[in-house]
Amino acid sequence: MLTQTEALLPTPGMRPRRLRRTPALRRMTRETWLRPADLIAPLFVAAGTDIARPIGSMPGQSQLSVDRLLPETDALLALGVPAVLLFGLPATKDAVGSAGWASDGPVPRAIAALKAHTPELVVIADVCLCEYTDHGHCGVLHAETGEVLNDETLPLLARTAVAYADAGADIVAPSAMMDGQVAAIRAALDAAGHRDVPVLAYAAKFASAFYGPFREAADSTPAFGDRRAYQMDPANGREALREVALDAAEGADMLMVKPAGLYLDIIRQVRDRYEVPIVAYQVSGEYAAQQAAVERGWLDERRAALESLTAIKRAGADLIITYYAKAAAGWLAEGEY
Ligand code: PBG
Repeated sequence: MLTQTEALLPTPGMRPRRLRRTPALRRMTRETWLRPADLIAPLFVAAGTDIARPIGSMPGQSQLSVDRLLPETDALLALGVPAVLLFGLPATKDAVGSAGWASDGPVPRAIAALKAHTPELVVIADVCLCEYTDHGHCGVLHAETGEVLNDETLPLLARTAVAYADAGADIVAPSAMMDGQVAAIRAALDAAGHRDVPVLAYAAKFASAFYGPFREAADSTPAFGDRRAYQMDPANGREALREVALDAAEGADMLMVKPAGLYLDIIRQVRDRYEVPIVAYQVSGEYAAQQAAVERGWLDERRAALESLTAIKRAGADLIITYYAKAAAGWLAEGEY
């Protein structure tokens, strides 16, 4: 029985629930669709052969040698995922990261093998020194202070980008957060005859705790200190727009925001200001945190993954780099979500 007051409550004039009543109505009125073509799979390439080493902090992900990479990219292509982003685990490291631009390094070898095997696969090469330096920082260090030197690092990043383009990379993606890195790489690519190789700039890259699992995966934990003197303060939104503006002015063909899920406001603002494709990187810690909850039975893997990716797309990302690429494409192939 309703009380007298309850009986007098107004009936709603507007009823948004009308359009949510059936699956068909919900489908017709859905604003954001996730497609396999929106996804880019990050892959860790190890030196050597017949290596498939599971990454402890990233359940479902492994370091793969070049020979073991091809079945993985075949599976991705079959599911409609068009692109991969390659990181390298070299056999040796030194102070300047010279294994990064060695033509027989894991990434150039993987690029060549992939382009020979499936030319239609878009191969993106991450350009940074941190996987190749013995100290784990993204650039070369000042001998006394240990400071990461900006201008001294630029030619090494440029050399690395050219080595990847020489190997056949379709896109290079500088992630070191050195000032002027996009311009340096653009000039070096042009001078080396790679005018048509686009630069995907890690434009707004925050100094995030959520890169933790990646550093295990890529063996790139800094031996001392952290990356806060070159990556951005997570508190800074306006500064992110300034970083993006600089990379756009330096000639970036695509702009990235990273991480993704905690930075949806930045993705939206970049989307509203720029016409080039916007890429968001759902990073290792975002994946690891969700997967840890999945393993405990606290989250449904498929629903949580597709919801997190849909939210990133709704915020304005055209493309999403995600460790869920293969799984998500598989779920999408099964039908509506
Ligand atoms: C290299 C690089 C990192 C990531 C992408 N490129 C690590 C870092 O900046 O510390 C992180 C990716 C991830 O966490 O999934 N500089």
